[in-house]
Amino acid sequence: MKTQSSTMVTAEYRGKHFTLPVFSPEEPYIFSPRPERNKIAVPDKDPIIENLNAVWDLQNFKIPRFPVSLGVLPSEMHSCLSKPCGMPRTLDLPIKFPGSNVRVPHAFGPCLPLLKRIFDYEATVNRKCYDEYYCYLTVDAGHVKGGSLQREAPCHVDGFQGARWNPKVRCNHTYTVSNVFPTAYYVQPFDFDQLDERKHNFFWEMNRQVAVTNSAYARYPAPYELTLMDCFSVHRGTEATYDAFRTFVRVSFEVRIFDRLGNAHNPLFAYDWTMVPRDIEELNLVAFDESSDPSLRVFPWQNTNGEALPKGEKTKPKLRTDS
Ligand SMILES: [Fe+2]
Repeated sequence: MKTQSSTMVTAEYRGKHFTLPVFSPEEPYIFSPRPERNKIAVPDKDPIIENLNAVWDLQNFKIPRFPVSLGVLPSEMHSCLSKPCGMPRTLDLPIKFPGSNVRVPHAFGPCLPLLKRIFDYEATVNRKCYDEYYCYLTVDAGHVKGGSLQREAPCHVDGFQGARWNPKVRCNHTYTVSNVFPTAYYVQPFDFDQLDERKHNFFWEMNRQVAVTNSAYARYPAPYELTLMDCFSVHRGTEATYDAFRTFVRVSFEVRIFDRLGNAHNPLFAYDWTMVPRDIEELNLVAFDESSDPSLRVFPWQNTNGEALPKGEKTKPKLRTDS
């Protein structure tokens, strides 16, 4: 079922509701990166930089990694994150196709300097293969209540390649920034040698391995710190400690089409992907360790018995003994 207003479509399937922003093709921002403008250092020996264009390999999870820092944004770039400025909630909007320039709908004007900063760095760090990637933009801006997450999720990675991706392809790498409550990264080795990608839920196992260390290796970027992670950087949103306005911006470089139902459409490109539901639930995966704490191996919308919670209630994974 779909209903449409001038700027937003709401849709639902399997009882899940989501909103899709509708973008005007008028007054777009179109640009190409200028690596000569980048002044941010590239740490060549960092595992994320060294591995940037490699093919997915679970062994990489054994090498702990904290995102590469691109520094705290200059103060003139803070206002697009710290207060409402009209950027709609947007999930994985393609803003670049392989070989194309960058095409940004007018609604994202407030964060244009931030996007140019990211693209200038990306064209520097990925000079060889920049043209081969799609790029997707996510913006989540809104008020968060103390004690909650903007989006509840288990420990996870962005760009996981499970059983349906064969052969495996190049790794995802992603730039993120937020004004408050920066993402938690778990800088520890993860070992999945005993797991079967067709059978086990790897995100629940990430929860479990983090809980085993009592979250001792959680590290956080600073507010407004722009960082680059890869698809082996295990992370989770951070609970708000007070009511606040939070903006999260994510810019992902991927070789795959993101055709998941709920992702936004960019009218500045001519494409017609068949958008499909891609829920991890439909894979019927199970926990590798079924004796672990039940909160570590249920979906956020389930209680610890696996039953659906009332709308708005979420189960949080017990990642610390005192949580
Ligand atoms: Fe994520």
